[in-house]
Amino acid sequence: MSRTLDSADDPDARTYEYSDSTLLIRMVKYLFAYRRLFATVIVLTAVTIILSVWSPFVLRQAIDVDFVSGDMHSVALTTLLYVVLQAFAWIATYGSGYLMTLMGQRAVYDIRQQLYCHLQEMSEEFHDHSSSGRIISRLTNDIDRMSELLGGELINTFAQVFVVFAIGWAMFVADLRLALVSLAIIPILLITTVYFRKVMREAYRRTRKTISTVTSNLAESISGAKVTKSFAREKTSAEIFAGYNEADYQSNVDAGKAQAAFFPVVRFISALGVAIVLFFGSWFILDPSFLYINPVLTPVMTIGTIVMFVQFSDRFFRPILTIAQFYTDVQSAFAGGERVFSILDTESAIQDSPDALPMPEIKGHVRFNNVTFGYTGGTAVLENFNLDIQPGDAIAIVGDTGAGKTTIVNLLNRFYDVQRGSIQIDEIDVRSVTQRSLHSRIGLVLQDAFLFMGTVRDNIRYGHQDATEEEIIAALDAIGARRIIENLDKGLDTEVGERGARLSEGERQLVSFARVLLADPRILILDEATSSIDIYTEHAIQKGMRVLLRGRTSIVIAHRLSTIVNADRIVVLEHGKIVESGRHADLMQKRGKYYSLYDLQIRPRALQRTV
Ligand SMILES: Nc1ncnc2c1ncn2[C@@H]1O[C@H](COP(=O)(O)OP(=O)(O)OP(=O)(O)O)[C@@H](O)[C@H]1O
Ligand SMILES: [Mg+2]
Repeated sequence: MSRTLDSADDPDARTYEYSDSTLLIRMVKYLFAYRRLFATVIVLTAVTIILSVWSPFVLRQAIDVDFVSGDMHSVALTTLLYVVLQAFAWIATYGSGYLMTLMGQRAVYDIRQQLYCHLQEMSEEFHDHSSSGRIISRLTNDIDRMSELLGGELINTFAQVFVVFAIGWAMFVADLRLALVSLAIIPILLITTVYFRKVMREAYRRTRKTISTVTSNLAESISGAKVTKSFAREKTSAEIFAGYNEADYQSNVDAGKAQAAFFPVVRFISALGVAIVLFFGSWFILDPSFLYINPVLTPVMTIGTIVMFVQFSDRFFRPILTIAQFYTDVQSAFAGGERVFSILDTESAIQDSPDALPMPEIKGHVRFNNVTFGYTGGTAVLENFNLDIQPGDAIAIVGDTGAGKTTIVNLLNRFYDVQRGSIQIDEIDVRSVTQRSLHSRIGLVLQDAFLFMGTVRDNIRYGHQDATEEEIIAALDAIGARRIIENLDKGLDTEVGERGARLSEGERQLVSFARVLLADPRILILDEATSSIDIYTEHAIQKGMRVLLRGRTSIVIAHRLSTIVNADRIVVLEHGKIVESGRHADLMQKRGKYYSLYDLQIRPRALQRTV
């Protein structure tokens, strides 16, 4: 397994390369989880194989023995036997087909579920470097590719391989001469198959890549539709999309062309087989000495034998068609599997250490010790950064955009690991406890309040599923948002839409406050939104924040005057370094960075809001 970067147009799709056998074994393992179903399918398939080899012999018996002897009664019995065998074959085929689908779909369900859980565990660093569209493509398109294979084709094809061998064997037992001449075309078939296999593999690899680009571009355009419109870029975007769409169209046409050419070729070769049987069979009847060896290996040729061989020939080549079809499907399934397994095999950069314990109850003493950190591929954002926050203190961080404020939050939550130094909560290193327990102690209200599809109530309950109606109302009351929420169209039952798009920004903030208040964390982090909010909501939010911060250690990335003035300490950040720190009045007196920042940014905004 080697790490490869797909190509220039696919820079973020981390795809490993696996050998075909590795992929096959891994896929079969998913089926093997259902052992009993698997065994039943194998038994039913074996029955079909036996029946399909047996029936041509029954036909020969009907023609050569019963019909020739003129005994209509035996003819009737033998044909009845033929029908009964066919009926059993039908039942067995139906049974195995159904069970295979069942098993395959369960396997697909398992893979999708596993992939979903794995993606949730991936670190932020992983998501920084992958496009959500590509990931969605893996969860849908790529798993679909695998589903055909797992839903029967795999087992079916192996069964067909047995059929080919069983019929080949039956042919040799029945008549060596006819077997030899009719199997003479196998080399032609092999060469054709190998050639097409190569062409199709390339073509299907390409289609997987192109569809993934289409999907990811689509996903991005949908989420960025507003920006596109506002820049009047619809036409350019459509042209760019047309390019990807065209590439996908072309690669599918190429793949289809190869496949379309292949089937008629195999069918032609199979017809050739029938012609050979008829031609040489007749010759052997008319001239019994031709290629004669001895009475056992080359018995007298009969019409029954010819009919039997025509059936054999058909049954021999039909599986080969299936096997050939399998090649195309297996290529696309392998391409899909490769992408899915690549994600499953990419380990999260942030892992719980093997001896990680849950974080105990904490007082909330936060300390950054000489922390140095930079995002992958970037320069250091924080260098030898120190910060000590006593339990219950509220500190405000202010600074220019890009100064590293959100980065501090990311590190405290261990969304990323520090490169040097350490971060401790109550003297416990955040890397030594489980991520789940760490996150449950820290409440986070993000700059862009993210809500999930569903109602306002669902969203408030997000971190505390069993919250009662009273608790929800109490939380809304506490932050002074009850009136605002109840005034919504359907109150708590209002659907918020995707990402909460149907609520205003202020409403979204309030809902996210209520959500975090219900979760009741010891440490609270607020990354304030900078956008202006109407005075009425602003007032509600300020009140809400005071309630939220009470009795917790809190870090507020502050843009609001009220937060800053009331903070126990204000930290001024510049290029990842603390340049000033103290209370509002002291810093104002100093007339340093804070003073100019306040004068330039904070006061004008505050005025704007209160005017
Ligand atoms: N996920 C990321 N990957 C790479 N670089 C990042 C990432 N997030 C932030 N950065 C970079 O790190 C620096 C600090 O970013 P950060 O988000 O901490 O700024 P900030 O102080 O929160 O700014 P703002 O006030 O605009 O929110 C910036 O230069 C930014 O470009
Ligand atoms: Mg930020």
